[in-house]
Amino acid sequence: MTDNPIAPRTPVSLLGTGAMGTALARAWLAAGHPVTVWNRTPARTERLAAEGAAVAASAADAVAASRLVVVCLLDDASVGEALEDADLSGRDLVNLTTGTPAQGRARAAWAEARGARFLDAGIMAVPPMIGDAKSGAYVFYSGSPGLFEEHGDTLAVPAGTRYVGADPGFAALHDVALLSAMSGMFAGVLHAFALIRREDIAPRDFAPLLVSWLGAMAPAAHKAAEHLESGDFGKDVVSNLAMQVAGSATLLATAEEQAVSAELLTPYMSLLERWLADGHGDEDTTGAVELLDLRRE
Ligand SMILES: NC(=O)c1ccc[n+]([C@@H]2O[C@H](COP(=O)([O-])OP(=O)(O)OC[C@H]3O[C@@H](n4cnc5c(N)ncnc54)[C@H](OP(=O)(O)O)[C@@H]3O)[C@@H](O)[C@H]2O)c1
Repeated sequence: MTDNPIAPRTPVSLLGTGAMGTALARAWLAAGHPVTVWNRTPARTERLAAEGAAVAASAADAVAASRLVVVCLLDDASVGEALEDADLSGRDLVNLTTGTPAQGRARAAWAEARGARFLDAGIMAVPPMIGDAKSGAYVFYSGSPGLFEEHGDTLAVPAGTRYVGADPGFAALHDVALLSAMSGMFAGVLHAFALIRREDIAPRDFAPLLVSWLGAMAPAAHKAAEHLESGDFGKDVVSNLAMQVAGSATLLATAEEQAVSAELLTPYMSLLERWLADGHGDEDTTGAVELLDLRRE
């Protein structure tokens, strides 16, 4: 970020002033960037206009207003729709709309064919974290290295930045991989609360136990990475697969005793059982990743 408080800030055009777009626009306005906004429903730009943003009458006008164009819309289809009539030649387009890796790659080719440099992005934050340097919010970026190098400081205003490579699919891939891991965690948390909720155990007393246990277990991902990189799933095993599958029986029996459906647990347990049946009982559970690989011979 520039150290000179009176140095001119890079103008930003932002398409999409939903919850996330509004938070992003506010952060750039607060840092002194000229901001032009456009939203399909114009009423959603009124508060930003009162805070100093210029409002464009159309998406094409917003694109014309600044070289750096940031898009934060609902989904990839809305990006194509909104930018259909815009002249993207010479623009630096940054797509903060959540999508799949294939959508990121296709959108990059689409933007480049229209003369723009392109970065795809995945936001690892919720709107209240945006613009708060202490919140831990960050955004994955991938695509044009030149665009990232030139606008990295401006992109770092609302949230931290992590450039993960020239492949425009990589930002979405990192984003979705982390979200997928989170979804497994939330499934586990839901099951745990289901087990205790009809007993004389206050959820608010139980929650801190969950948080510290999950925090203590999360670093096991480092060991899993070591196993994946070496390909040796039998090295320095802490809790082997056979023991974990045996333990599953206790988890399932407890669910039954508590009259709780085990539907969130059983897919993972079945996978581990299949890997055990393939003869990997002495290894770490990470090798079961093979069973998830649909390209496996
Ligand atoms: N909110 C979060 O916690 C969060 C966290 C990480 C990532 N994100 C991502 O950020 C993006 C925006 O999320 P949000 O929270 O701002 O959602 P939101 O509040 O629902 O806003 C959606 C935005 O997309 C616009 N839109 C929808 N369909 C459109 C179309 N066909 N053409 C033009 N504009 C269209 C909406 O315009 P109208 O006002 O006219 O409906 C609005 O500006 C999403 O991709 C989301 O996954 C959000």
